[in-house]
Amino acid sequence: MKQVWTQLKDEALTALSAVSTLDALDLLRVDVLGRKGKLAGAMKELAALEGEEKKEAGVAANEMKTAVEAAFAAKESALRSASRAADLARERVDVTEPYVPPMPRGHLHPVTQIQESLEDLFTSMGFMVMSGPELESDYYNFTAVNVPPNHPARDMQDTFYIAGQPNQVMRTHTSSLQVRAMRAYGTPLRMIAPGRCFRNEATDVRHEHTFHQLEGVVVDKGITLGHMKGVLETMAKHLYGPDTEVRLRPKFYPFVEPGVNGEVTCYLCKGKGCRLCKKTGWLEVFGAGMIHPNVLVEGGVDPDVYTGFAFGLGLTRLVMLKYGIDDIRWLESGDMRFLNQF
Ligand code: DAH
Repeated sequence: MKQVWTQLKDEALTALSAVSTLDALDLLRVDVLGRKGKLAGAMKELAALEGEEKKEAGVAANEMKTAVEAAFAAKESALRSASRAADLARERVDVTEPYVPPMPRGHLHPVTQIQESLEDLFTSMGFMVMSGPELESDYYNFTAVNVPPNHPARDMQDTFYIAGQPNQVMRTHTSSLQVRAMRAYGTPLRMIAPGRCFRNEATDVRHEHTFHQLEGVVVDKGITLGHMKGVLETMAKHLYGPDTEVRLRPKFYPFVEPGVNGEVTCYLCKGKGCRLCKKTGWLEVFGAGMIHPNVLVEGGVDPDVYTGFAFGLGLTRLVMLKYGIDDIRWLESGDMRFLNQF
C-alpha cells in the first residue's frame, strides 16, 4: 500500500513540474487533490485495511498528502510572482525617451477669418454665399456689368489675359458674380460672393496682383437706397463696433446708378482724424450703388418691376486696416513670420 502512495506522489510531482500556468495548475490540483481526485480515490482503499497495516498506510497517506499540498503551494507562489514580474516588465516606462513636441496647430489666414465673420453676418440676414470661377469670361467680368468692349472703364481694371483664350480673363473683381447670380437664382435675390481677384499691377506696398473681395447683391420689388444704407451700416457696425457710422458719397461705377463710395468712421481715432484716416476721420472701405438697369436686363430681370443694390469691398484692405499692415504684399507671401502674428 505504501508503494501506491509513493507512486502517486511521484506522479503528482512530475506532473507539477511540467505545469507553467496558473490555469494548468488549477486543473492539476482538481485531478490530484480534488474531491474525486486520485488522492481521494486511494484514501477510500484505506477503509478496507485493518490493524497495523491500516495505521502505517494512514501515516504514509498523510505524509504524502502534506508533501503534495506543499509542492502545489510552492508552485503556485512561484507562478504568481513570475506573472507579476511579467506585468511589471510590460508596464515599464522608459523615462529616458526623448520628448517629441506635438506639431504646432495652425490657424486660418487673417483674410479667411474676416471672410468667415462676414459670411456669418450675412447668412444671419438671409443672404446666400456664392462662389464663381477665378478664370472668368470676358462677358461676365466686363460686358455683363455694363463695361462693353473698348469702353474706357476697362482701363481701370487691367488684368491677365490668357494666351490662346481670347475671351477669358482672370477676374478683376467679384462683380463678375452679379449676373451669374441673377441668372442662376432669379428674384428675389440676396447673395454675397467672397473670392480671389487679380489685376495686372506693377506691385508696390499698395498694389498686388492677387487680392480678395466680397460682393453683395440684393434684388427684389421696391428695393431702395435706404435698404442699401441699412445693410451697409449693419456690416460696418459688425466690423468696427456699434458707434460706427457710414457716409455715402457719389462715385461712378459702370454697373450702378447712382453709384457711391462708402466710408466708415475711422475706428482708430473714432472720427477725430489720425494718420490711418489721413486726418479725415473716415475710412473708404466699399463701393456700392443701385444696380444699373442694363445689368438687371443681362441677368434676365425686368428693371420696370425690380430694383436692387450691389456693393463690393476689399477683404484684403479690411485686414490691412484692422491690423495696421503697411505692405499689401505680406498677405499673399505665405511667410510664416507674418502669418504667425494673427
Ligand atoms: N467692383 C468694384 C471694384 O472692384 C467694387 C464695386 C463698386 C462693387 C460698386 C459693386 C459696386 O458692387 O456697386 O472696384
